[in-house]
Amino acid sequence: MTDQNFSQLDHKTAAWSARFDEPVSELVKRYTASVDFDKRLAEFDIDGSLAHAEMLHHVGLLSDDDHQAIIGGMTQIRAAVRDGSFEWSIDLEDVHLNIEARLTRLIGDAGKRLHTARSRNDQVATDIRLWLRASIDTTGQLLANLQVALLDLAEQHAATILPGFTHLQVAQPVTFGHHLLAYVEMLARDAERLTDCRKRVNQLPLGAAALAGTSYPIDRERVAASLGFAGVCHNSLDAVSDRDFAIEYSAAGALIMTHISRLSEELVLWMSPRVGFIDLADRFCTGSSIMPQKKNPDVPELARGKTGRVYGNLMSLLTLMKGQPLAYNKDNQEDKEPLFDTADTLIDTLRIFADLVGGIRVKPEAMRAAALQGFATATDLADYLVKKGLPFRDAHEAVASAVRSCVERGCDLADLDLTTLRAIIGPAGTLIEADIHGVLTLEGSVAARKHTGGTAPERVRAEIARHRQRLL
Ligand code: ARG
Repeated sequence: MTDQNFSQLDHKTAAWSARFDEPVSELVKRYTASVDFDKRLAEFDIDGSLAHAEMLHHVGLLSDDDHQAIIGGMTQIRAAVRDGSFEWSIDLEDVHLNIEARLTRLIGDAGKRLHTARSRNDQVATDIRLWLRASIDTTGQLLANLQVALLDLAEQHAATILPGFTHLQVAQPVTFGHHLLAYVEMLARDAERLTDCRKRVNQLPLGAAALAGTSYPIDRERVAASLGFAGVCHNSLDAVSDRDFAIEYSAAGALIMTHISRLSEELVLWMSPRVGFIDLADRFCTGSSIMPQKKNPDVPELARGKTGRVYGNLMSLLTLMKGQPLAYNKDNQEDKEPLFDTADTLIDTLRIFADLVGGIRVKPEAMRAAALQGFATATDLADYLVKKGLPFRDAHEAVASAVRSCVERGCDLADLDLTTLRAIIGPAGTLIEADIHGVLTLEGSVAARKHTGGTAPERVRAEIARHRQRLL
């Protein structure tokens, strides 16, 4: 068969062709076709069709022979899709028509019966949900892996001290394990959001047909059960038209990328030779073509950059939906590329980050040296005075002037001997005793914060155990 004949045949077999006098122009064909990107739904389309055919057979709308022929044809098509030999044609617009036309070419009339009690509108909504459910599961697993990588590193550094920052100014000492656990908390909430979104994704649209349901005696619950959906969509107009579940995933994905981007920003900062808190494994960095000394943290920088496209995808989907009247509109064909891009970006990023975190080389001496600068234990001195009876505001004032005099002397609070410290604190200095030096050390500062949510090494270890239990 020539290409010309082939496309005429396909044009004739297209569900809507008899209504039209002329074929669409090449440009319109290319403009309206989605097969180039929706072909990645192929196996989900086949799964949906097989479940639909099984139901049609069960309720008496499809004969044994036709059902068996459909199963046989779909098996061949699946194999061809998998090995890459399936020939996709934009003459057939989308993944659904491509597969149906191939089925009909393979098995004849039985292939044409498959579309009974179904429309591409409920078919595509079903495919997207099946695909998204699998993507959510992959994303969730990768989120768990990244959390485990962070927990492993946090465990090694439960007692490693670095300066905690506010306004990017040294604030108070914290443990590196505690710092890493902040990201575990963020990712744990991200995972919860995905789990919650999955519940709403996991409802079957099939049976809604084009928009109004169907006059055939279908069994939607049977199809739902065979595809692993928890239930069916309860309104046919809503089932074929809304893509809020895709928006939810995109929003959850945007937050995941926000968290990854914040971590990336810190990694870039920590790896800067000016800071030097960590080194990233060479496999995540590149050199410069001109500056021989460079080792650039490309992977975190790119992840930070890719966050933008994931935000953009969310905005695309929100905008896609906002003006659509009920029920299905072709606008919805535009849901796929942003959604696919978000999932691909998330999955690649999470996969790479679990490995990247595992390859972080921590430099505890540099962290410690930085924590020793910037009066990180000034709050501890104020708290000490408060515990001796001074009101907090007065203690704050007294320590602030002591810090100022240390800046002038070019030393740290902990460097002062007891007499000098008492003198520069002023009248409240008499409250200070020899035990003060234990309070002003970095170790003393972090160890004192042992309440739930605090930075003490013992608390970090307890939190790690709690998270590991949760991730089992
Ligand atoms: N390719 C279409 C999509 O992705 C499938 C549904 C088309 N339905 C229609 N009535 N044109 O949305």
